[in-house]
Amino acid sequence: MIFVPTGLLPKQACPGLAQVGNLMTTYPFQNPSLSTSKRIADLLGRMTLAEKIGQMTQIEKNSLTPELVAKYALGSVLSGGGGYPKTGNTPQDWVNMIGEFQKAALETRLGIPLIYGVDAVHGHNNLHGAVIFPHNIGLGAAGDLDLVKKIGRFTAHELLATNVHWNFAPAVSVPQDIRWGRTYEGYSENSDLVAELGAAYVCGLQSSGVSASVKHFVGDGGTRWGSTHPIPWIPRMWQADDDRWCMDQGVTDVDETTLREVHLRPYAAAIAAGAKNIMVSYSSWNGLKMHGHHYLLTDVLKGEMGFEGFLISDFLAINQLHEDYRTCVVQAINAGLDMVMVPFDAAQFIDTLTAAVEDGAVPLSRIDDAVRRILLVKFEFGLFERPFADPALYTEIGSETHRAAAREAVQKSLVLLKNDNMLPLSRDTSTLLMAGEAANDIGLQCGGWTIEWQGKSGAVTTGSTLFQGVFEKMGGDVAYSPIADFTPGAVAEVGIVAIAEKPYAEGEGDNGNLALTAEQIALIHKVRPHCNKLLLVIYSGRPLIITEQLEMCDAVVAAWLPGSEGAAISDVLFGDVPFTGKLSFSWPRSMSQVPLSALISSGEPPLFPFGHGLETC
Ligand code: GLC
Repeated sequence: MIFVPTGLLPKQACPGLAQVGNLMTTYPFQNPSLSTSKRIADLLGRMTLAEKIGQMTQIEKNSLTPELVAKYALGSVLSGGGGYPKTGNTPQDWVNMIGEFQKAALETRLGIPLIYGVDAVHGHNNLHGAVIFPHNIGLGAAGDLDLVKKIGRFTAHELLATNVHWNFAPAVSVPQDIRWGRTYEGYSENSDLVAELGAAYVCGLQSSGVSASVKHFVGDGGTRWGSTHPIPWIPRMWQADDDRWCMDQGVTDVDETTLREVHLRPYAAAIAAGAKNIMVSYSSWNGLKMHGHHYLLTDVLKGEMGFEGFLISDFLAINQLHEDYRTCVVQAINAGLDMVMVPFDAAQFIDTLTAAVEDGAVPLSRIDDAVRRILLVKFEFGLFERPFADPALYTEIGSETHRAAAREAVQKSLVLLKNDNMLPLSRDTSTLLMAGEAANDIGLQCGGWTIEWQGKSGAVTTGSTLFQGVFEKMGGDVAYSPIADFTPGAVAEVGIVAIAEKPYAEGEGDNGNLALTAEQIALIHKVRPHCNKLLLVIYSGRPLIITEQLEMCDAVVAAWLPGSEGAAISDVLFGDVPFTGKLSFSWPRSMSQVPLSALISSGEPPLFPFGHGLETC
């Protein structure tokens, strides 16, 4: 071992030697030709308790400086929803921000690289200009495994171009109640379809060098309406006095057979596809919060299912376990959690866990197991050899190739619910009008988890809209009024109305009334007399109640949340590409058929069944 005090020898002077902190040395763990298990064993054997606990700590970037990364030898940093750099939201801003944190990590005593995580749930969606793919509900309707793999690969490229090696996706939730604000993060109400698509995404993402985080384990999509109870010691937004946050993070009231057959199945498929990280759900099962559930986290997932990777908590989630923070930490780590998304107070978590190990409440063997699992992922994803961004991928951000894949996904995701001799449209349509702000609003067509955590309307990022696509197909001969202000008595051959749910994420979208709003209904009524044939295009994160509006429309298309490439919808409307999408969720006739269990027990057919989707040639 050669010791060279910092500053005496420029780092590039010994290219054959790895720079580890202030040491020019070659530990076995730095040797990529050794087996991963040997590298883990060597490194773990050199780590202090402080360094081990540092690896188990994940902090949100706004609560951090590079100095703190070094001080605590942190294992991970994250951007929460919308967590773009304070300096700006260009790829270079991301590279610089994460690069500073990584440099600090590499200069610690053992130079263990950190792993940076983001929610890139439909593309690198926090980054302005990245391609935004359809949310999972649309990919469920497309049902194309190869396409989902491709989306995973392309998303990974845009992430790696900006120093991100870990994606908190895919959600393999199996939503059983579409009142849930996270329905659209799920591919389907059908567990088998979720399992196939989730595994495909894991394959695509990880084949390109980014670790997936399959979430949220387990049963997040099965919580009961109204089961989210206020947590008095956590004064956070999830204690609203309306429908918001009333089922997200709630109680999954199902027997173990149902839990296994509906909600656990996608995890087996994801693990088989190579998933090495799983995020634990805020929800509860059998009277216990998942974050403290030793039976499901350790006995079932790590034991019975042989999961070798590591478990990450959700955001501030362990704090929900108990009023006393030490109890939270001890319960969660002993239950099988390996890394904690703290995400604010590093010192409090680290000091609490250190004391718990020192007084024996948490055995050192549990710490070593957690760190071993974390190091496995860091070695397997090449972080020790390639801890920084890959500049060669820079040009792929927002690239035409990625946009073409997004357009294909939009085209395949569209579900034609009704078509009374209206679609496909002809470019020779004599007069065509369009109405609805949603027809020309990228923010509305992208939905939540887009630039901002909750998403928002407006030109939030680059891309194209339905209006722009129709305008191009019609050679500009389109009358467009967001509020349907057309000449009294004017009647066009074709009318297109686009409506959208306002963007939301997580429990903010919990909603007990999925009927169209009065404004949306009024808009349809206002356009109706102005056209011979009326098409309704719906942007939504779930099926909505449209039964009473159906007879007013000659055609209805469910477009879900298509992302940045909205113009692709016009390709299908005008017959350049056929309609092929199929419902991956049952479409209820009324709220009496929600949740799915109510629909099944009603004995009545839904308005449109799972698998419904008219085709055009
Ligand atoms: C959120 C979500 C989770 C996300 C995490 C980090 O609360 O539940 O899906 O990955 O925090 O943003």
